[in-house]
This record gives sequence, structure tokens and C-alpha cells, in this order.
Amino acid sequence: MLERLQKIISAAGITSRRASEALILGGQVAVNGVVVTELGSKADPTKDIITVDGKTLKINAQRLYILLNKPPGYITALKDSQGRPLVTDLLKDVSDRVYPVGRLDYNTEGLLLLTNDGDWANRLMHPSNEIEKEYHVRVRGKVIDQQLKRMAEGVELEDGMTAPAVVNLVKSGEQNDWISVAIHEGRNRQVRRMCEVVSLSVVRLKRIRYGNLMLGTLRAGQFRYLTEAEVRELSGEPAKSPSAGNPKREAHQKPTRPERSGGKSSGSGRR
Ligand code: URA
Repeated sequence: MLERLQKIISAAGITSRRASEALILGGQVAVNGVVVTELGSKADPTKDIITVDGKTLKINAQRLYILLNKPPGYITALKDSQGRPLVTDLLKDVSDRVYPVGRLDYNTEGLLLLTNDGDWANRLMHPSNEIEKEYHVRVRGKVIDQQLKRMAEGVELEDGMTAPAVVNLVKSGEQNDWISVAIHEGRNRQVRRMCEVVSLSVVRLKRIRYGNLMLGTLRAGQFRYLTEAEVRELSGEPAKSPSAGNPKREAHQKPTRPERSGGKSSGSGRR
């Protein structure tokens, strides 16, 4: 079946659909040896030989969707000029190259999604989808209601006001309080900057939820594959009947393998 080239390239997990268009426009894509630079061009992924920079596409590459409990001290990137540990170092035995959906700071921990499905990643990150992410934040000392209220209503950052957020006190300790912050924007270091504006000093920051997907009981450094229902729900696609919401894996998916490289418990911070 003929399909648009950019769709075929992004579906092969090389990159997103938009970046695939740039590859085509840049003359990096060929179909049966002929360079194609028109965006509307189509090819048959089952018959044609499609190359990107001279490399033949693996058309039936398996889609991988991974939930990692990122420990602090790992960089959310595929390489680092300073040689720091990469989140992908934790994905031993993963058969294909995957890349992070968005990012968490070097010292932020918790729920990080990784995939080789560029379209899916783009859908999740698109601002119009407004997927809510929830963080638990350990802050030095005691918080007061006024600080939570200001963060909830929106604070002024150097890149503009933040949208209304859901902010609550989760736990109160001797030295530290834990608050939860749920936001749907994805600005750089947003939670840390919001805390800074209301004079809260962040000791620990952990993402515990992405849309309806919870971090759950995965220990730091462990990962699992998402179920098909989770993949669909996150990207806003209707669940497939009758397996909707069924946590059992589907035929094309890798098994859920929660017991991975040993990391120590991610500790408190869960509700
Ligand atoms: N907000 C932050 O400040 N840092 C993160 O890593 C994620 C959200």
C-alpha cells in the first residue's frame, strides 16, 4: 500500500514526522535509488527500498514504549559531552534505539517515557494535548498556604506566567515538607523555577504521574514496557475493544518485565 514517505520514515522509528519532512527536503531520502525531495511523495514500504542517508529503513521495526523510573544523576539525552550517565544506559537488553519523550533534569527523578515511535512521542509532547504531569517535591522547611496558592494560580517566570496548576501539601516532616504539583505545560525546569519564585528550596523532585499513567512501584533505575491500552490512552486514541484497559500485553508487545537492574528504593514521596 502506498503511504507518504514522511509517515513511513517516522513509523520506522528514525525520527518524528516533522523531522522526516526535513530529511526529505534535504535530499537525504531515496526510493529505489532515486532521491526524492517532494513532500507529497509516496512509496510502498512492503515493496520499495527506502534509504535515509544511504541506510535502508527497517520497515517493520517493533514499536517500543518504555516507562523508566529515572534515578537522579542521569542525563535525559542520547549523548553527553561531559560523559555523565545517560538514561539509556539503564535500558539493558532493549533491542532498538529509543529516545526520551521530553526530559527530566539531571537531578530530577521518576517517571520518564522512552520510545522509538516518533509520531507517538510528538503527540504526547504537543502543547495542544495538555497532558498533566504530577511531581512530588521535597522542600526545605515548612510551606505555607500562601506559597501553594500562588503556585496554583500561576507565577511570573522569565518566559511568562505559568498556567493554573494543582498544588497540595502531601506530607509534613520535621525538616522538610512534600508538596505535589500538577502542571500541563512542559517548560524547562518549570517546577524548580515555580518553587524558586515563591521562595521554596527544592531538595528533591520526582515525577510520579504522566496523564493517567502512574510511576507505581518501579524502583529507581528499573523500567517496564507499557501495555497497548496505556500506549493508546496516553496519546488520546480510543481504546481497542475488548482489550480496553486490559493490563495484559497484546501480541505485538514485549512482555512487561519490571525486575530490571537493581537500584535502591526510590523512597518516600508516594501518596
Ligand atoms: N520541572 C522541573 O523543574 N524539572 C524537571 O525535571 C521536570 C519538571
